[in-house]
Amino acid sequence: MRDWCRARQSEGQTVGIVPTMGALHEGHLSLVRRGKSICDLCVATIFVNPTQFAPGEDLSRYPRPLDRDLEMLRGEGIDAVFLPTDEIMYPEGFGTYVTVPPVGMSLEGASRPEHFRGVTTVVNKFFQIIPADSAFFGQKDYQQLRVVEHMVRDLNIATEIVPCDIVREHDGLAMSSRNRYLSDDERKIALSLSRSLATAAEMCDSGETRVAMLEQAMRSELTACTKLDYAVVVDADTLEPIEVVDCRAVALVAAHVGTTRLIDNRIL
Ligand code: PAJ
Repeated sequence: MRDWCRARQSEGQTVGIVPTMGALHEGHLSLVRRGKSICDLCVATIFVNPTQFAPGEDLSRYPRPLDRDLEMLRGEGIDAVFLPTDEIMYPEGFGTYVTVPPVGMSLEGASRPEHFRGVTTVVNKFFQIIPADSAFFGQKDYQQLRVVEHMVRDLNIATEIVPCDIVREHDGLAMSSRNRYLSDDERKIALSLSRSLATAAEMCDSGETRVAMLEQAMRSELTACTKLDYAVVVDADTLEPIEVVDCRAVALVAAHVGTTRLIDNRIL
């Protein structure tokens, strides 16, 4: 992959990379389209990264519809797909991990300790294997995007991170590979995540700047969820708590619906 990437770059072509865990949907494909619009060539990676799952999370049942994924990527005119095995990424004796920057400590970092360490490590490995000019990440995983941006800055990685908008279903549910776990009833409850964010945005637009009021309104939309991990409004850059929305802020929510954990967010 590295030889392929460098050979293309030495011919003067730019290479984009879209890291994924497969089970692709329109959200992933939008990243590929963005990649192809900015770079001459676009590579996708499909790898269900074991180091970012805690014991008891959905690693073993994570969907792996490989033929369908490849078909979808072919349909977008992808130039290459990197499909490593666990043994290739984590051979016997593997032991070096990338420490997570402070922006990854709260929220997902608090709910899922070790998660971002797995993400920074595997994304850094992808950047070593495929030294792409640009990498495309969805705002759907808002904190992940911020963590990767910080890692790239802190470790002088030459790949530029390009954030991409969240793609939603018609009713507002953020697309996710995990949506397929939801039953019909759970699917309806899952809508409360995007609804809670819309409520916060509407309140903000009509002049409510007190974060406590916004968070309370979000929580009251989320009562049907099985378990609420967080529903917060924080500084959009640092993800640190704020009391009033007087700068760029982001509303973030994570909740379990049945046994499925969902996340969503919206810039205010
Ligand atoms: P995965 O969940 O497969 O997501 C791959 C990329 O697609 C991420 O950048 C994610 O933010 C983006 N994405 C997912 N749903 C989206 C949506 N509805 N709209 C826009 N973009 C969306 O995120 C991961 O995999 C992994 O952590 C990975 C970065 C590949 C490292 O293992």
